Amino acid sequence: MPFYSEKGMDHWHQPRNVGEIPDADGIGEVGNPVCGDMMTFYIKVQDNRIVDIKFKTFGCGAAIAVSSMVSEMAKGKTIEEALKITNELVAQELGGLPPNKMHCSNLGADALHKAIEDYLKKKEQKDAGKV
Ligand code: FES
Repeated sequence: MPFYSEKGMDHWHQPRNVGEIPDADGIGEVGNPVCGDMMTFYIKVQDNRIVDIKFKTFGCGAAIAVSSMVSEMAKGKTIEEALKITNELVAQELGGLPPNKMHCSNLGADALHKAIEDYLKKKEQKDAGKV
């Protein structure tokens, strides 16, 4: 069993916000160097707020639960608030992860932050009139 908590098990078995946003404003993809698993986050932003978020994770149960938790934590948050979501916070929210699964939790916030960076980069280009 990869989790200590019921919350972790719940997010593993019934992950929230699985899928893809075809016209996403930002996309972030990360790979786990330890196991080779992949995670992609898609965000939709309106008035500086994450109004929709979806993810696709090809990974273990812990990675799926972490993605699900990150998506719930980030939904409705402003860009600044979402940038404050850390891997530690996510693991904490899940009620802790077994030590041998901590590397899996590192993907979550990283993928979210990458999607935000992608959004900010695109926004900057748009604002500069390059797109
Ligand atoms: Fe690959 Fe957990 S074993 S992300």
